[in-house]
Parts: sequence; C-alpha cells; structure tokens
Amino acid sequence: MKKPLWKDETFLLLFLVLVQAFGLDDDNRPATEVCSTHTILPGPKGDQGEKGDQGEMGKHGKVGPTGSKGEKGAVGDIGDQGMMGKIGPIGKKGDKGVKGLSGISGGKGKAVLAGIRETEEKYYYIVQEEKSYKDAVIDCRIRDGILAMPKDEAANAVISDYVSKSGLFRVFIGLSDTEKEGQFMYADRSPLQDYSNWKEGEPQDPSGHEDCVEMLSTGKWNDTECHLTMFFVCEFPKKRK
Ligand SMILES: *[C@@H]1O[C@H](CO)[C@@H](O)[C@H](O)[C@H]1NC(C)=O
Repeated sequence: MKKPLWKDETFLLLFLVLVQAFGLDDDNRPATEVCSTHTILPGPKGDQGEKGDQGEMGKHGKVGPTGSKGEKGAVGDIGDQGMMGKIGPIGKKGDKGVKGLSGISGGKGKAVLAGIRETEEKYYYIVQEEKSYKDAVIDCRIRDGILAMPKDEAANAVISDYVSKSGLFRVFIGLSDTEKEGQFMYADRSPLQDYSNWKEGEPQDPSGHEDCVEMLSTGKWNDTECHLTMFFVCEFPKKRK
C-alpha cells in the first residue's frame, strides 16, 4: 500500500520552514541539531481507503497441456462377410460303409439243399419262389446253374417225380420259343431235337403269347405265358470245368 502523498508534503514543508526560520547555513550549523527535532517524524497511520474499482479483464491464459487419453470406445458393429477362403486340404478317409445286403445263396454245397434230386450227370433243385420265366433264368444263373433242360426221358422222369412229390402242379423249365415262334430252344440255346414230352394238343399258341414252357406234375410240357410267375427248377452239372 502506497503512503498517502500529504504526509510527504507535510514533511517537506516543515523541513523548509525550519530552515528559513533559523536562517542557518548548511556549512555553519551541525546537521545533528536539525535532525534531532521530534517534529520531522511521520504521524500515525491514517484510516484505510475505499476499495478501488474492479480492474479490466485479464488476458487469455496459455494453452493448457494435452488432455489424458479418452476411454476405450464401445465394441463396433459386426463387419461385412469376408470373401470365400481357399479350398481346404483333403479330408480324412471316411468311415467304413454299412454292411451290404446278404447275397444270393451260392450254387455249391448242393447236397445240403433239402429235396435235391440228382442223376449221374446233374443235380436238380426246385426253387420255391414264384418268378416269371426271365427272372427264373436269372435266378438259376446266379446260383451258378441253369433253368432245367430235360433232354431225355430219364432226366424228364426225375424232374417230374420231383415236382409231383413236392405237391406242385407246374414249374418252369428251361425251354422257350421267344426268339422265333414255333422253334423251341433250351436255356443253353440248344434247339429242341429228338426228345420232347408235350401234353396232348400242345404246344398251341394261337395268340402268340405262350412262348415259355412249364412242366406239369405228370411230366408233360405245356407252352404258357412267360410273364406268369411260378416255381421253377434249376439244374447243376456235376462235372464242373
Ligand atoms: C397250358 O397253358 C395255358 C396258358 O397258360 C393254360 O391256359 C392251360 O390251362 C395250360 N394247360 C394245362 C393242362 O395246365
């Protein structure tokens, strides 16, 4: 706080008055006498002045330091689907497949088959499954045999006895004229020759639909329709090559 101006002025005024009043020369008069006077000392402190007016707004401060790093943002949205990748390596070998269906019975071991008949040269076996002529041919072939071909009296007798003793009325035998009407051929494609055992009046095929041959329980032959289904006889040669 600055000292009020009037106090300095009063001090200076008193000093001048004293110098003039005594009329003293500085050179003739000792300074100690003047300074020893009590009247040159400052008076008591005055009252406090009034509060000053508000000052002008200060200048803008300096730019502050860089703030701290903000918090981590929220998880972003799911991105678009990427492009298809490369083809992967070859996979491991797959598991073993399911076991296949049981195969058709084999043609060997014929002695085990119930009711089998035989001659010196062949075995005969009645397959008691109703099949068309074509399917009967296939079935006998799968059994490693052929649809029965009675080529003589003896063979025909064995088969017919087998059929009748089995309680059957008719079975397919390996004889047909599908390739040329009226010219019967055995299942091994050999032609019907000297021997035949047609039922009286047969073969008779006015409509042209009876191209296959069935053996009746009497041993007689009858031409019939190939698509009919019935049991059939397979034969198997004894001397296998
Ligand atoms: C011969 O076959 C024909 C055609 O299937 C049939 O109509 C006829 O009854 C058969 N003959 C005998 C004696 O079974």
